[in-house]
Amino acid sequence: MRAYKEKKPEEYQLEYVLECARLAPSAVNRQPWHLIIADSIEAREKLCACYHRDWLKQAPMIIVVCVDRDEAWTRQCDGKNHGDIDAAIITEHICLAATEVGLGTCWVCNFDYNAVREALNLPEYLSPVVMIPIGYPADTSSDPGTRRKDIAQIVEWR
Ligand SMILES: Cc1cc2nc3c(=O)[nH]c(=O)nc-3n(C[C@H](O)[C@H](O)[C@H](O)COP(=O)(O)O)c2cc1C
Repeated sequence: MRAYKEKKPEEYQLEYVLECARLAPSAVNRQPWHLIIADSIEAREKLCACYHRDWLKQAPMIIVVCVDRDEAWTRQCDGKNHGDIDAAIITEHICLAATEVGLGTCWVCNFDYNAVREALNLPEYLSPVVMIPIGYPADTSSDPGTRRKDIAQIVEWR
C-alpha cells in the first residue's frame, strides 16, 4: 500500500499486529529483532528523509524492523547468518496481521541505510532491515494475484 489516510491505527489493531510479530518463528528461536515504532511527527519526518517518496509522508506510523546479527543464528557449515531471514519473517507477520485488521503496509528496504541508523540513533549492534509504513489504506485498487508468476512457473515436482 502506497497511499494512507491520516487516521492512526487503533490501539487494538496495533496490539494484534505486535502480538503476531512477537509470535514469529526465528532460527533456533533467537528472536534477534528489535522493532522501533515511529509514531511522532518528528520520528516520521526523520525516516521520510531517508527514503524520498512523497507517499511515505502520508503514513501515520512507520515500524522499523532492526536485527542484531550477533544474536541471530549462524549456520556452522557455511557461516550463513540467518538474521535477515528472521527479520523478513517478523516483517511479513506484521504485514499479514495488519491486513487482517484492515490496515495497509508496504515493505521498504530501499532506504539510505546509514541515514536510518543516524535518524534512530541506533546502537552499533542493531541494523535496520525494513521500514514498514502502516495505516488505513487510501487505495484499494491493488490486486496482487494478477501481478504474480503462475504456479507452474515457480513450482517444480520431482
Ligand atoms: C524485500 C522487499 C523490499 C522491498 N522494498 C521496497 C521499497 O523499498 N519500496 C517500495 O515501494 N516497495 C518495496 N517493496 C515492495 C515490492 O515492490 C512489492 O511487494 C512488489 O512489487 C509486489 O507488489 P504487490 O505486493 O503490491 O503486488 C519491497 C518488497 C520486498 C519483499
